[in-house]
Amino acid sequence: MIRSITVIFYAFLLSWACWAKPNGSKSKKPKQVVPDIECDVRAGKINLPEFIAKCPAHCKETKQQVYGTGVFASISSICNAAIHSGVITNAGGKVIVRKMAGQNVYKGSNSNGVRSLSLPKWRESFVVSVGKPKKGVIYPSTLDYAPSRPTYVKTGSKDTKLAAFTTLPPTTAPEATTTTPEPTTTTAPTTTTTMPPPPPTTTKARAAVHKIRDAGFSLREPEALPRAPEPPASQGDPNCKVDLAFLMDGSWSIGKRRFKIQKDFLAEVAQVINVGMAGPMMGIIQYGDEPVTEISLRAHSSSKDVKSAIDKIVQKGGMSNVGKALSYINKQYFSDANGNRGGAPNVAVVLVDGWPTDKVEEASRLARESGINIFFVTIEGPDENEKQNLVEANFVDKAVCRTNGFFSLPVNSWFALRKAVQPLVKRVCDTDRLVCSKTCLNANDIAFVIDGSSSVGTGNFRTVLQFVANVTREFEISDTDTRVGAVQYTYEQRLEFAFGQYNNKAELLNAIKRINYWSGGTSTGAAITFAAEQLFSKSKPNKRKIMIVITDGRSYDDVRAPALAVHRQGVIAYSIGIAWAAQDELEYIATDPDKEHSFFVDEFDNLYKYVTKIIHNICQEFNSQPRN
Ligand SMILES: *[C@@H]1O[C@H](CO)[C@@H](O)[C@H](O)[C@H]1NC(C)=O
Ligand SMILES: *[C@@H]1O[C@H](CO)[C@@H](O)[C@H](O)[C@H]1NC(C)=O
Repeated sequence: MIRSITVIFYAFLLSWACWAKPNGSKSKKPKQVVPDIECDVRAGKINLPEFIAKCPAHCKETKQQVYGTGVFASISSICNAAIHSGVITNAGGKVIVRKMAGQNVYKGSNSNGVRSLSLPKWRESFVVSVGKPKKGVIYPSTLDYAPSRPTYVKTGSKDTKLAAFTTLPPTTAPEATTTTPEPTTTTAPTTTTTMPPPPPTTTKARAAVHKIRDAGFSLREPEALPRAPEPPASQGDPNCKVDLAFLMDGSWSIGKRRFKIQKDFLAEVAQVINVGMAGPMMGIIQYGDEPVTEISLRAHSSSKDVKSAIDKIVQKGGMSNVGKALSYINKQYFSDANGNRGGAPNVAVVLVDGWPTDKVEEASRLARESGINIFFVTIEGPDENEKQNLVEANFVDKAVCRTNGFFSLPVNSWFALRKAVQPLVKRVCDTDRLVCSKTCLNANDIAFVIDGSSSVGTGNFRTVLQFVANVTREFEISDTDTRVGAVQYTYEQRLEFAFGQYNNKAELLNAIKRINYWSGGTSTGAAITFAAEQLFSKSKPNKRKIMIVITDGRSYDDVRAPALAVHRQGVIAYSIGIAWAAQDELEYIATDPDKEHSFFVDEFDNLYKYVTKIIHNICQEFNSQPRN
């Protein structure tokens, strides 16, 4: 039998060889021709939903920009995104590029020697994978480049960074405000020789379109592939992406002169912090008897605009009701409708002259629990004799989440306030340390480990996915809040999506819905190890690691050692068993006490009952942990 197969095989080879020689192009198996690209080619330049391309060596050295991690904004260099993702090395190689919908936020990171940047909303994304064509798929052998257009670079000093976005030959792009009747013959002599002539609009008209589009952040439908990417209006410091509110003291105790010092301080902070859509957004509330919004979070997207708005603030007078102001920011100021971006930590800096005239503890606790990081800058705080006048002793320690000094900055005199600018900016931008204003809903990396074995069946698998979606829906999802990843397993394991791959709820729920049922054996132990390697190894240090294993049968392998190993890594493990799941295994997998981490349902249709239960337990456990 084996022999005859071998013979047939050789016969086939022979005939193939004879036949292939005289006329190569007729060969039965069409050969994939992989087009070469340069290091600077951005995915957005190529008008195809999916394609293969070959990167040259040494792209890393070209420093072509990359935006995002795992999922990249389409203005990123394909080859450097591939190096960043580990798909190729700096020696180059083939990559498959798949376009995706735009994301709300792209988080920069360092990976494989490539530093990617952060970027807010972009209208199109892509992912890269190893350049091995799927069976039977032939990708285009030539790439269709979108026509180039002159790139708009704003004249402001901070925006010179945008020059890096362009794939045009290095040149000074025409300034936004110059009107040039014939773009092909303008300022940049080297630009246009090889490009098709741009559309006959003036630069000014184009710049105006930009302004309008960026003001509302409206996005084109992802289906319509962009002709060429356009830079966002205002950048800001991407390493300090926070939604920042200052609560300024407008009480009569301050006096006109000090109120002016306070304004100068805020203006200087606005300058130093580099306000912009890809960086910090800054607003101001003035409090006295009542809090009043002076500058809303989304009102101004540059330091200059914030500064001129600060200049116009007039002192309101009244008491120094800080507690009331903190309730106000919690309920209103940081609402989504008022410009809270999500994906950027909320930070409130309270400036207090002396001490507050109301209590702050309860209001700050509530604000912290909804995720607002509170800093106190106390100027001319109470001395020993004055402490008896306080409404609440140690009000600062009661208001901030950790009493180690990070969140409080005492300043001896109004005239020394200026010196606090740099240290304060440094702290509010240290997003890794803005971690204690966390709740059970916004502080997790959650990995679902989903049994895709044959016994589950297609219909029940959909129920399991519904369960995963229903649990996910309860959490606050973003790169800085809760992140969700998923693994499906049979004998084998498959990473369905990684932490941070989908950073908003809608896309995440969509991704869950799209998980394809695999069908096969049941190796739960191996799946847990896989989740540890593929997901938890990439968990952020300030997140709670939660694993939710869902299985309907006894594992073929031993779950004990893998479960113990993840417990030791600090993973809180929940197990949910359905129908034929084995009780002993569910308990091995679950963190102690088992009663609170392990659940069993007799049939898939009853799974829904455990959605609220599991959320409740996650939150209860979170709240029982010491906070300071
Ligand atoms: C192969 O055959 C086709 C038509 O049968 C012909 O057009 C083509 O030129 C041939 N190619 C070569 C390399 O001989
Ligand atoms: C998920 O939520 C939907 C809507 O509330 C509900 O109809 C469904 O039964 C739930 N399913 C599961 C498995 O939790």
